[in-house]
Amino acid sequence: MIEGPRLNRAARDPAAPLKGAHVVVGVTGGIAAYKAAELVRLLDKAGAHVDVAMTGRAQKFIGAMTFQALTRRPVFTNLFDLTEEATIGHIQVADRADLVIIAPATANSIARMAAGQADDPVSAIVLATRAPVLLAPSMNVNMWSHPITEANILRLIDVAGYHVVGPGDGFLACRWTGPGRLAEPADIVEAAAHVLSNQDLAGVRMVVTAGPTYEAIDPVRFVGNRSSGKMGVAIASAAQRRGARVTLVLGPSALPPPVGVTTMSVENATQLQWALGDAVKDADVVVMTAAVADFRPAKEAKQKLKRGEIGPTASIALVQNPDLLAELGKARGSRRTPLLVGFAAETDDVIGNAEKKLVTKKCDLVVANDVSEPGSGFAVDTNRVTLVDTSGAIEVPAGTKYEVAHRILDHVVAMRAAAAAPPAKAPREPKPKAKSKKR
Ligand code: PMT
Repeated sequence: MIEGPRLNRAARDPAAPLKGAHVVVGVTGGIAAYKAAELVRLLDKAGAHVDVAMTGRAQKFIGAMTFQALTRRPVFTNLFDLTEEATIGHIQVADRADLVIIAPATANSIARMAAGQADDPVSAIVLATRAPVLLAPSMNVNMWSHPITEANILRLIDVAGYHVVGPGDGFLACRWTGPGRLAEPADIVEAAAHVLSNQDLAGVRMVVTAGPTYEAIDPVRFVGNRSSGKMGVAIASAAQRRGARVTLVLGPSALPPPVGVTTMSVENATQLQWALGDAVKDADVVVMTAAVADFRPAKEAKQKLKRGEIGPTASIALVQNPDLLAELGKARGSRRTPLLVGFAAETDDVIGNAEKKLVTKKCDLVVANDVSEPGSGFAVDTNRVTLVDTSGAIEVPAGTKYEVAHRILDHVVAMRAAAAAPPAKAPREPKPKAKSKKR
């Protein structure tokens, strides 16, 4: 059994990583700015040293005095205020930050950060800091779903490695309902603690596949399976939280693509193969969680097949799909990247079958799950898996798919560290004693 240090620590005190950390809260001008006061209070309560920076527009929604009272520190409100510059210059604040949180991050402030602007205290700190940045977006639902905002967010994640928490879904101040609500302050604190506690995948390029594939029989019917995409999406989200740059290749699924993850939607195994071809080129890790259909109909009918045409005992000719994971293993040859993680959905001899897959698919790790066990496998929110690699099998305690995802990633991190370590020196053979020559 492996003990997950990350989750155990979180279970003791989720906010522990914030104790003593220097956190800058950047408040920008949206109606949710008033909630930043509660966020600052919770951060302060968790033991963080909090500096607050505000844009001019934010000050129209909430006064600097509130934050000053909560933090017992001056509030950074003006880029060119000489008094503030003399005491807490924005470069100094940016330099000493362990984490910068922008809450609320409005559509406008996100656009300005994505453009690299630095003409107000908040954007100047964001541009100057080397600390991780956590955005808590809040805006009108249409602004949030606008392709420009989407592109800006992706740019901040992909290019700058920023983290995102929320937005939540619900009734908004603009009287629309949908995503756009500032995440709850407690959730922002939790996300901040995550960012601070675990960035062990920072900069790692990871491709995750998830969900089923649907192989069309005709325009309305398909051959498919019961995968919901939950396990793969949980891995993608958890990896993104830990700093990875994640591309998710997602089969047909009702799940919304996770924020901060580049998502490619596919329908069938052929499309998944194309998407992978592009995505894995510069990947460090590939996790194949998708339940790829092993067969597809030999031909797809262009029109819906009529009941009468099919007859009472129809049979569909199937052809085999390529084994995408095995292809990746073969293409990698003797190279060590990308690290290949496969899954094994089994109903019997779970470990034995996973061990076979480890060899035949030439991957580094197989995550085996017994899909016939209640609370495990397809469509449920929990899973119980065993990690199988060349050094043996490690049973992971049952948990939510998100918790299990973290355990799998813990193992991936350990495998990458072991692969990067210089090979241990073989103990020196004792030198044979020189024979004394007889003169
Ligand atoms: O999506 P959920 O509802 O959350 O369910 C999660 C899950 C049960 C789908 C997931 O945990 C899981 O087990 N995924 C792998 C499903 C599967 O296809 O298993 P397999 O034993 O048939 O395949 C072994 C591996 O080969 C898998 O990594 C699979 O992605 C890959 N494969 C399989 C067939 C194929 N043609 N190409 C492949 O690459």
